[in-house]
Amino acid sequence: MKTQWVKNLQPGLQVASNFGIYDLGLAKNKNGAKYLKVTLGDRTGMIEARVWDPALAESLSRGISPGDVAIIGGTVVEFNGLQINVETCTKTDRAQVDIDDYRRCCEQDTGVMLARFKAITGQVGDPFLQALLSSSFTPELRQQFRRATAARVIHHACCGGLLQHTLEVLEYCMKILEIQGALLSPDVLLTGAALHDIGKLWEYDQEGLDFQRTDAGRLLGGHVILGRDFIRQRMAAITGFPGPLALHLEHLILSHHGQRDWGAVEEPHTLEAIALHQADLLSARLNQAAGVLRSQTSSSSWTQYDHHLGCSLYVPDRAAEEAPPW
Ligand SMILES: [Fe+2]
Ligand SMILES: [Fe+2]
Repeated sequence: MKTQWVKNLQPGLQVASNFGIYDLGLAKNKNGAKYLKVTLGDRTGMIEARVWDPALAESLSRGISPGDVAIIGGTVVEFNGLQINVETCTKTDRAQVDIDDYRRCCEQDTGVMLARFKAITGQVGDPFLQALLSSSFTPELRQQFRRATAARVIHHACCGGLLQHTLEVLEYCMKILEIQGALLSPDVLLTGAALHDIGKLWEYDQEGLDFQRTDAGRLLGGHVILGRDFIRQRMAAITGFPGPLALHLEHLILSHHGQRDWGAVEEPHTLEAIALHQADLLSARLNQAAGVLRSQTSSSSWTQYDHHLGCSLYVPDRAAEEAPPW
């Protein structure tokens, strides 16, 4: 049972609780003695740990793997931040734990988000598109969807992140419809938004601790192709589904990344596809930038260069007093 959380650990505390094993590897100290470096985590954070006993380090390096959950016994110490000196480590049966306690989870309430998702998608009036939505988001798939991640690291990379991101995209699309809705088909845009990243259910190992990409995700073109294949099957099962509508929806999925070098199979060629791409980009970029700011530990007013964003971010609150140049 989970009794101690990473965010509550303090120097000097004795630990005896389950943690997720994120990474581990043997290393040698200055005297050539082997020790084990371990990265532990739970839904509240990550912490480094060390197994200094060479015999225990050797045996754990063979018996424990990343992705496992284990009961860790040891002491919290201060060393370049907090660290656990591990004295005992016993693998736990994954079936006995709630894996969501051991991995990043989004802060928003997934029940509330799912209710809003249903309220927005419930506004789709076209019977074929409504049939597509209900045959796609079955009760079983909804349960997978509410716990899924949207990415391994870049944006919305947490349990519940796919629902959070998809809902943000839907909300942005609702705003676009409010402002420039006369140009667009609301039913097509909202259906495309709801389904645009559905392929992520199969692109990432949604039951794993750190959401590795699956073989299917790596071999079959990622969530763009997996998602297109999914909706193609669902549309084919709906009698009389209009061909041009099917073509348009497949295009929304294939083009939502906007540019070929961002993973789009095709650039957006319809107004709805342009709108969906911009809504998707806005949700992803803001979340990504917020993550860069959160992970900054220094008090500098500039973050480290982030190669996903392609820039550093400026933090106005941390800026030193400086006379403007004009
Ligand atoms: Fe995507
Ligand atoms: Fe997306």
